[in-house]
Amino acid sequence: MADNNPLLVIDGVSATYNHAITALHGVSLTVDHGEIVALLGTNGAGKTTTLKAISNLLPASRGQITTGSIRFDGKNVPATAPADLVRSGLVQVLEGRHCFRNLTVEENLITGGIGRNARRHEISDDLEKIYDQFPGLKEKRRTLAGLTSGGEQQMTAIGRALMSRPRLLVLDEPSMGLAPLVVRDIFETLRKLNHDTGLAILVAEQNSTVALKYANKAVILENGKAVLSGTAERLRSGSDVTNLYLGQKSETSKTAHYFTAVGT
Ligand SMILES: Nc1ncnc2c1ncn2[C@@H]1O[C@H](COP(=O)(O)OP(=O)(O)O)[C@@H](O)[C@H]1O
Ligand SMILES: [Mg+2]
Repeated sequence: MADNNPLLVIDGVSATYNHAITALHGVSLTVDHGEIVALLGTNGAGKTTTLKAISNLLPASRGQITTGSIRFDGKNVPATAPADLVRSGLVQVLEGRHCFRNLTVEENLITGGIGRNARRHEISDDLEKIYDQFPGLKEKRRTLAGLTSGGEQQMTAIGRALMSRPRLLVLDEPSMGLAPLVVRDIFETLRKLNHDTGLAILVAEQNSTVALKYANKAVILENGKAVLSGTAERLRSGSDVTNLYLGQKSETSKTAHYFTAVGT
């Protein structure tokens, strides 16, 4: 089933909130089958707005796409209901790892299967697969999600998304508020999923160091514009321009600062 068309194509998308505040200015981005793509940028750059546009969730936030187009697997996204996008394999984990706190981890996972009218045996097969991928969740299956750690809640939210059998998994800042080792665990799991199943992943992150380590390519947003894009390898090489947009000091300038400090 070779399909040479990109899985997701965002072409020149501009978006506003309340028909007033312009949050995106002509953003373009593609995700190919089997690819991990990072959408980077500091707070307020437009990452969440882009991801909401992809899942046709902007209208629910009083947002509008004003120009440009978004196609998922050939489907015209703004004309497709969010639930139909999920059913066709575009599944998003929203910012803030939303879990049902009063349901157990396993019940949370099961809710992801209900959306696609899965049969009972399919749900139990999928649960076993998810427990293979997230062994930590199996231990916590009977624990209320609200009582698990931040990392476990993020894993639960990702696991629930996987229960919808995505072809493109979209994640909004999965690292937010989590300790570095937990973040690494999450990205290692995502990489393994991508490697083992060919699942395409689009991940928005402020943590560009981690995202660029795991992504194939990346787009950097600033003030709603895509200011840089390229292979993760190229962006990782850390030109001063990249560092400027990502709000980081380059290694060389850090070193220079160190030497200045030592010398004085
Ligand atoms: N619901 C909303 N109503 C009005 N403005 C919003 C809304 N959500 C986001 N914005 C604005 O849109 C811009 C982009 O925000 P967002 O997409 O959330 O950025 P990021 O996810 O990169 O932090 C910001 O200027 C933000 O204030
Ligand atoms: Mg955001």
